Amino acid sequence: MSFPSLTIDPFDEEFLSDPFAYHDELREAGAVVWLKKYDCYAMARFAEVQAALKDWQTYISGRGVGLADFAREEPWRPASLLLETDPPLHDRTRGLMNKVASLASLRALMPVWRTKADALVAEVILKGEIDAVEALAEAFPLRVFPELIGLREEGLEHLIPYGTTAFNGFGPRNRILEQSMADAQEAIAWVAESCKRENLKSGGWGMQVYESADRGDCSPEEAERLVRSFLTAGVDTTVNGIANLIHAFAENREEWAKLRADPSLAKRAIEESLRWGGVVQTFFRTTSRDVATDGGMIPEGSKVLLFLAAANRDPRKWEDPDRFDISRNAGGHVGFGFGIHQCLGQMVARLEAEAVLCALLAQVTEIHATGTPQRRLNNTLYALAELPVSLTPAG
Ligand code: HEM
Repeated sequence: MSFPSLTIDPFDEEFLSDPFAYHDELREAGAVVWLKKYDCYAMARFAEVQAALKDWQTYISGRGVGLADFAREEPWRPASLLLETDPPLHDRTRGLMNKVASLASLRALMPVWRTKADALVAEVILKGEIDAVEALAEAFPLRVFPELIGLREEGLEHLIPYGTTAFNGFGPRNRILEQSMADAQEAIAWVAESCKRENLKSGGWGMQVYESADRGDCSPEEAERLVRSFLTAGVDTTVNGIANLIHAFAENREEWAKLRADPSLAKRAIEESLRWGGVVQTFFRTTSRDVATDGGMIPEGSKVLLFLAAANRDPRKWEDPDRFDISRNAGGHVGFGFGIHQCLGQMVARLEAEAVLCALLAQVTEIHATGTPQRRLNNTLYALAELPVSLTPAG
């Protein structure tokens, strides 16, 4: 074994509470390292992570993008037809989902989302001190996302626990995963029911997937599983994207002042928060062949852990990478991945964040942290449980 061997455990509670504290060690150890605890390889530098994401023929997703190797063990639920597949199947499913999740349909919704975000901030601001996770980061996606998909109204409280569990499922069977699995049994059943055609409203993205099936682009069974992808990936991610954005400004008040002075920086600020915040920390790939690297040979069938969040703060790529700086052009970050699996819902995430940010900009002069943010440990997401802030109303 010629690769640097590390005893670091990227899924233990200390690591997950502050992953950025460990990323230097991972990046500095080498371009490819060996993680002894899990018998797997890892990459944490930007160039290698991006190259592996791009090379889907070598670093495949069809054997799972978590630690479990689907060639050796059954996935905990039927595999995703997007995230956990390779071409040619992925070409077909992604092609039809790209048509459903179109930017045009989102643009039409933007004025409605802006009005809803304005109303939410107006409600919240009256409270003075708030937990921004519950009051904004969870509340806003739950006001717009279910309607976008066309979900029934009852049971929406299951969406976040379901996402949490699915993202925990990419890690090892540790205490965090066991606990969230135990807590999410009802949520799992609710999601399975909600993906059925009879439970989706007409006009929503969910029903549009079934309409693709009617046209012969996929089978009705595939449609059901494709709708599940929206529900799995579309909520806990954006919740933490918005939470991280507010957290970034609460911690960097001069950046909030900068944005207020020049609101045209809003889109840059969102991109920078996605780079800096590291919502999705990691995803795995499996090698489809022996891969020769500078450090040696990675054998076929190896699991490789890609540290997206470490790549997004790699000093080889970014100047002063730990600084949240809204003037920076953070374009090209791998917070939404890269290549054929790059996030299908990235425009949903950006537009939700933009609606909230613009509403805050219009109504809030200052965002102060009023307590220590509390983390919610997750095997994949860098999640916040609580973010105490006070919002100073404008005018
Ligand atoms: C801040 C919010 C979000 C972040 C940080 C995020 C991040 C990511 C990342 C890193 C990937 C790549 C996975 C890989 O390469 O294996 C991905 C894929 C995906 N995302 Fe997102 N995501 C977000 C929001 C959303 C939303 C709102 C939706 C649904 C509307 C969504 C649906 C998906 C789907 C279906 C895939 C799989 C795509 C494929 O394999 O072709 N995501 N996301």
